[in-house]
Amino acid sequence: MATELSTALLQQIANEYGTPVYVYDADKIKEQYKRLITAFNTDKVRFFYACKALTNINILKVLKNEGCNIDCSSINEVKLALYAGFEPKNILYTSNGIGFEEIEEAQSLGVIINIDSLSNLEKFGKKFGNSYPVGVRLRPNILAGGHLKISTGHDKSKFGIPVEQLDLLKAVVQQYDIQLTNLHIHTGSDIKDADIFLKGIAVLFDIIPHFPHLKSVDLGGGFKVAYKEDDPYLNIEELAVKVLQAFEAHERTRHLQIWFEPGKFLVSECGYFITKVNVLKETATTTFAGVNSGFNHLIRPMFYDAYHRIENITNPQGAIKEYTVTGNICETDTFAWSRPLPEVREGDLLVFRNAGAYGFEMSSNYNSRFKPAEVLVESGKPRLIRKRDVFEDLLRNQIIDTE
Ligand code: LLP
Repeated sequence: MATELSTALLQQIANEYGTPVYVYDADKIKEQYKRLITAFNTDKVRFFYACKALTNINILKVLKNEGCNIDCSSINEVKLALYAGFEPKNILYTSNGIGFEEIEEAQSLGVIINIDSLSNLEKFGKKFGNSYPVGVRLRPNILAGGHLKISTGHDKSKFGIPVEQLDLLKAVVQQYDIQLTNLHIHTGSDIKDADIFLKGIAVLFDIIPHFPHLKSVDLGGGFKVAYKEDDPYLNIEELAVKVLQAFEAHERTRHLQIWFEPGKFLVSECGYFITKVNVLKETATTTFAGVNSGFNHLIRPMFYDAYHRIENITNPQGAIKEYTVTGNICETDTFAWSRPLPEVREGDLLVFRNAGAYGFEMSSNYNSRFKPAEVLVESGKPRLIRKRDVFEDLLRNQIIDTE
């Protein structure tokens, strides 16, 4: 049985810290990391937690203490990783669309770098030649992922150097004698089919022979987890068998390290977002349950049509009725449409599941509402890891003319 936080504990946290509040279960994060290690069971494979999913320092420390590496998408994420205690050699920086000065800064911090464009690679070559090993992100032209907005490897995607530009890539690498040690792809998020990774590997295997300095191949993240009961998810045991077999099959690939960058897999299911029902509104067609949150706190349903399971933890035995669960933002701010739930009353606590990844991390102060608090539960004990905003936070950084 997978690790879950009890309803009683979630109620206690809501009482103690108020709502809305994000709650994360450290034991679940550790369990997920161990599942990866166990499935692959070889030191040829390294996992880098894609921390864009959730960057609270306390979460980063949980994964660092388990021995996980970290993948960063901005220089500030790199700095957070260093702050959390990760060593530069365990920090991977895979950015896109950035100015060269950010790459220079990452180089000065000594972290592993993947470059996403020919122009930045050229600048890198000019400045560092073969003195600092580097990787490149490729665009494999594979359509993958659960929604077009989170699909990054297809032939119209902005990400990576398109594989059809291999000759240009080789020319830059040769011209500056660049030590190209890593090839990276990430085709999308919410991938449920292990064969998508094999497709990516097939593309990479055609390119690998062109680069003799390669030490590793980075297959990105995107492992789908279950959001609904009976939802399909990526079978990581199957992924491990298929990927390891593919690399074993050739002399040239057998000795390469294989890297992955899971975000959701590690932190989606650990997260619970607790809200309180402010308003019930019966109309001729719909019963609305309006909670004390909105897409300013959990944008995934509105942005990606994502499904989050919702539980009424105050009245779990209530008679099932259909509710459209909405927020308090001044927009048609909806978490779930016509969702069967145990009878909802004003004041009930509704909990959104799978709220660890891209939940708090994508939150904002829209409508001048406060960002929620965050609580971490370790070995059953909750502690506050981020305070809820206060009014001063809305004014912070504004320059106010007092005349
Ligand atoms: N590596 C790279 C280069 C990425 O761009 C991403 C995600 C990951 C790894 C981790 O992917 P994951 O394992 O978490 O699926 N906000 C969206 C997901 C955007 C993912 C962006 N890149 C959502 O909430 O579904």
